Amino acid sequence: MTPIASQPAEGSLTSNAIFLTLTLNREDAALDRFRDFCADLPSLVRAVGFRSPAAGLSCVIGIGSALWDRLSMGARPRGLHPFREIAGAHHAPSTPADMLLHIRAERPDFCFELASQIMLRLGPISTVEDETQGFKFFDNRDLLGFVDGTENPNGADRTAAVIIGPEEPVFAGGSYVITQKYLHDLAKWTAMTVEAQERVIGRHKLSDIEFPDAEKASYAHNVLTNISDAEGNQLQILRDNMPFGSPARGEFGTYFIGYAREPGRIETMLNNMFIGLPPGNYDRILDVSTAVTGALFFVPSENVLDAIGAGRTLERPEAKEPEPANRTQDSLGAGSLQTQK
Ligand code: HEM
Repeated sequence: MTPIASQPAEGSLTSNAIFLTLTLNREDAALDRFRDFCADLPSLVRAVGFRSPAAGLSCVIGIGSALWDRLSMGARPRGLHPFREIAGAHHAPSTPADMLLHIRAERPDFCFELASQIMLRLGPISTVEDETQGFKFFDNRDLLGFVDGTENPNGADRTAAVIIGPEEPVFAGGSYVITQKYLHDLAKWTAMTVEAQERVIGRHKLSDIEFPDAEKASYAHNVLTNISDAEGNQLQILRDNMPFGSPARGEFGTYFIGYAREPGRIETMLNNMFIGLPPGNYDRILDVSTAVTGALFFVPSENVLDAIGAGRTLERPEAKEPEPANRTQDSLGAGSLQTQK
């Protein structure tokens, strides 16, 4: 049996990133070319990245709900659905797209070249919903001036937070990702005292040291996004937020991107932030940050990506009621792939 390989969703913060969201054209020919693209993507990343392995180029592709249905894979990731708009104290819009390309590297030229190569293939068969070029700002600070990413899980905790396990056997090795593009009102933020800003984030600005729990405001960002399951285990996600912007246009933003083995935990954090916990006790980051996009994608394992590229379905033989006469050793095997074309 082929071992399961994940896409590089668990990667660490890099100095540069490009986030591309696209919607595939309606024609069947576009779907065929998208399958070809999925088959080619690993070699494309190898070709661009090999020129300097130190640049650490990687690319994760996520697939949206509507495109997954068009692919007729025979099985559906249970957490995949269009991003759910939130109308709370603040508004989180839903701006669905068919795919996300999350390109990361230590050098902007590597991100740029891979995005160009990807667009040569996908440009003629898709509409661009958004392209955002993110950059590292000093010591991993966001444009609000706070270090962003400190409490990300590491090592085995990171894998446990991000990668789907036996709970979804057909999709083991995959992940889910939610993206939101935020625009900051920096004039409003910088008019606040540093102490008031620190109460919003729940950490000290210069040192990045977390406030003791007893001193955190109930609306602090790290209170509302710190969530647990019924047994009291913390539910973690992996964030790879990047600043972006254009001083000439007065645009200052944070591109939020969160990976998790199931999207419900990210949605709970979003509800806490936008509606509040309890309702009304919302995240004050949102008084100075407007979400302008919101999308959810499934990140297939490399194996499932191969199946998409080769036109194979993912039906699990044992999920069907086998005819007694046809009950063979093979038809009892778990998670095998069937040829569609
Ligand atoms: C404008 C957008 C956002 C900004 C500027 C921002 C910034 C920050 C900062 C500065 C921290 C503290 C340092 C760290 O641990 O990384 C943090 C923590 C965190 N953020 Fe955000 N964030 C944003 C949106 C979000 C969203 C949308 C979510 C989830 C849906 C989220 C989830 C988290 C989590 C889970 C933590 C760690 C909390 C802890 O356990 O201490 N953030 N964020």
